[in-house]
Amino acid sequence: MTTDIVYLNGRYLAPEQAQISVFDRGFLFADSVYEVIPYYQGIGFRLQQHLDRLAYSLRAVRIKAEADWASILDELVQRNGGGNLSVYLQVSRGSAGYRTHAYDDEMEPTIFACCSPIKDIYELGPDQVEGYNVIVTADLRWHRCDIKSTGLLPNILVLQQAREAGADEALLVRDGLLSEGTSSNLFLVRQGVIYTPKRSSEILGGTTRELILELAAEAGIPYQEVDIRPEELATADEVWVSSSTRGVAPVVSIDGEPVADGAKGPLWRQMFALFTCFQHRLMTGEA
Ligand code: PDD
Repeated sequence: MTTDIVYLNGRYLAPEQAQISVFDRGFLFADSVYEVIPYYQGIGFRLQQHLDRLAYSLRAVRIKAEADWASILDELVQRNGGGNLSVYLQVSRGSAGYRTHAYDDEMEPTIFACCSPIKDIYELGPDQVEGYNVIVTADLRWHRCDIKSTGLLPNILVLQQAREAGADEALLVRDGLLSEGTSSNLFLVRQGVIYTPKRSSEILGGTTRELILELAAEAGIPYQEVDIRPEELATADEVWVSSSTRGVAPVVSIDGEPVADGAKGPLWRQMFALFTCFQHRLMTGEA
C-alpha cells in the first residue's frame, strides 16, 4: 500500500499523475539504484547513513544525480502526514527517448520517492516480535551486491521459493559461504560472540548491520566479521537477520529445523533492548 503523495523529479503528485517515459532506463534495464528508509514519528531513522550509501551506489554505477535528498524526503513524509512511514527512493539514469544499451554521460536522472505505512517495531516488546523461518539456498546474484541496485530478480525469485516453502526469508550461499538474506544481513551467535559475514562486494553494507555492530561495541558484546559456512548454522546458539524495516529479527528455524531450542535467544533479547534504547535516544534528540 502506498500513501497519497509521491515525489517525481521535483514535484509532489498523486500517484496516478506521476508518469515516467517507457524508455526510462530504470524500467528497461534496472539501470537504477534505491534506498528504503524508515521514518518514525516523522523522523528519518539513520537517514544520513542511508544517504551516504545512496551516494556510494550512485558513484559506483556512475549516475550523476544531485539533490537535497533529506529535504525532499522529509517534505514527502510531512505531506503524507508524518508518523511511521517507510520511504522508498529510486534514482534511475533517465531516458534517452529510445532503447539503447549505451548511455550518454549527461542524461537527466529520474528521481522518484514514495512511502507506505509501517509499524514502529520499537514500540513492540520482544515477545511480540515474530521469529523468522528461513531456508538456505544458492546466491544467484551478480558480484556487486554492495551496490543497492533495483536489479532484484534473483532476490525476488529466491524469496518466492522461500515463501512457497512456508518460510519468510532465504539465506544465500555462494562458493561455500553464507552471504546474507534476500533483503537482510545475517548474524550468528555462538558462546556469547556475534559473528557476521565481513563486508565485501558479495553483500550489502546494511545500515542496520552497522548499527548492530556499533551497539555491540558500546555494550561490550564481542563480535567478529568473518567468513561463515552454512554448516555452522546447525550448531549456532542464535541466528538473526537485520534490515531497516525489520530491525534485528530472531531466526527460529532453518530449513524446517529449529535454531538451538527454537526460542528467541538471550543475546537477541539484549540486542533488541539496545535497539529500543537507541530509538528512544534518537526520538529525544540524544543520538
Ligand atoms: N533491503 N541486504 C540486502 C540484500 C538488502 O536488500 C537489505 C535491505 C539489507 C539490509 O540493509 P539495511 O539494514 O540498510 O536496510 C541487506 C531493503 C529494506 C529493501 O530492499 O526493501
